Amino acid sequence: MIGFGIIGCGMISRWHANAVLSIEGARLAGATDVSKESREAFGREFGIPVYNSVDEMLSSPDIHVVSICTPSGLHTPLAIKAARAGKHIVVEKPMSINLKECDELIEAVEENRVKLTVISQLRFSPAVARIKEAVERGALGRLLTGDIYMKYYRSQEYYDRSGWRGTWAMDGGGALMNQGIHGVDLLQYIMGPVKSVFAHTRTMVRKIEVEDTASALLEFKNGALGVIQATTSIYPGSPRRLEINGDRGSIVLEEDSMVSWDIQGEEIPPDIQIKKATNVASSDPAAISIEGHLRQMRDMVDAIRNDRKPLVDVYEGRKPIEIIMAIYESSRTGKLVEL
Ligand SMILES: NC(=O)c1ccc[n+]([C@@H]2O[C@H](COP(=O)([O-])OP(=O)(O)OC[C@H]3O[C@@H](n4cnc5c(N)ncnc54)[C@H](O)[C@@H]3O)[C@@H](O)[C@H]2O)c1
Repeated sequence: MIGFGIIGCGMISRWHANAVLSIEGARLAGATDVSKESREAFGREFGIPVYNSVDEMLSSPDIHVVSICTPSGLHTPLAIKAARAGKHIVVEKPMSINLKECDELIEAVEENRVKLTVISQLRFSPAVARIKEAVERGALGRLLTGDIYMKYYRSQEYYDRSGWRGTWAMDGGGALMNQGIHGVDLLQYIMGPVKSVFAHTRTMVRKIEVEDTASALLEFKNGALGVIQATTSIYPGSPRRLEINGDRGSIVLEEDSMVSWDIQGEEIPPDIQIKKATNVASSDPAAISIEGHLRQMRDMVDAIRNDRKPLVDVYEGRKPIEIIMAIYESSRTGKLVEL
């Protein structure tokens, strides 16, 4: 049995714990949190031992993998500590809050020969797999544009109730680095690497240090052009929308729902359901299905068992961060930034 230990017993830790409970060959072996109240409540809820500190948890032979569910600014320091203790790592997004941290973590993972997966649960959606497959077999022809629109709503109260949200040190950024990173990763996963960005980011409405609104123009290495838009300030918020267009076909995904699939000379495959998005993550941070985390953590357990790379490894985790950092730099300097 592969023993999982949870670090940080807040909102998203429940998705990790419940996913572990559903995976054959994995067991929930413990949890820790700086808050005594939070770790003890979590221990009672799941009937598992709690550790008084991360160091105590990392020294336990019962823990083979840690799930890092703390504020984002702590992901890399804790992941490096875990790697040095010889533990495999599931880390919530974003893996790191800058590229220097990404590279330090890559080094720690390589040196200590542990496996790391960064949560990017959308990559495990069956709809995303179908889009990826269609693009890779050239069904859309030459790719011309790839766009992601993430117009979300998060209230001021959402930021105010946790001291870490909306800060550079602990959130690492705003509408892009927190909510938007899922879409940025999805866009680059489907369209391929980004060559350059030109962007504006602003803090328009929320009283936070980081951006609540961002617009970026992209050029991909394959010559296609694209747009990234992210905000947490518009009311009421709309489903995240991915548009992939080629000279022979176009596909549109909203959240996890395929809203259109038009490929020249091809019928819509019978297993693809065209439907509107029903998920409301655009206005409710807790409206996330457990399915994505479950599929990704199954992939991690399988990667450990079969000594292979997890699908979203430490190098994959760096990719959306590089794009977001380029967007921040472009907005700061007013210049086009080459990646
Ligand atoms: N994949 C997704 O869809 C998704 C969704 C929500 C949040 N997240 C990510 O998960 C992370 C946590 O978000 P959340 O909403 O659960 O936050 P949260 O504030 O609800 O929980 C964070 C927990 O970490 C604990 N903590 C803080 N410092 C710690 C330390 N040094 N050691 C141990 N515990 C510590 C806090 O006490 C708190 O209980 C963030 O990085 C966020 O980006 C991902």
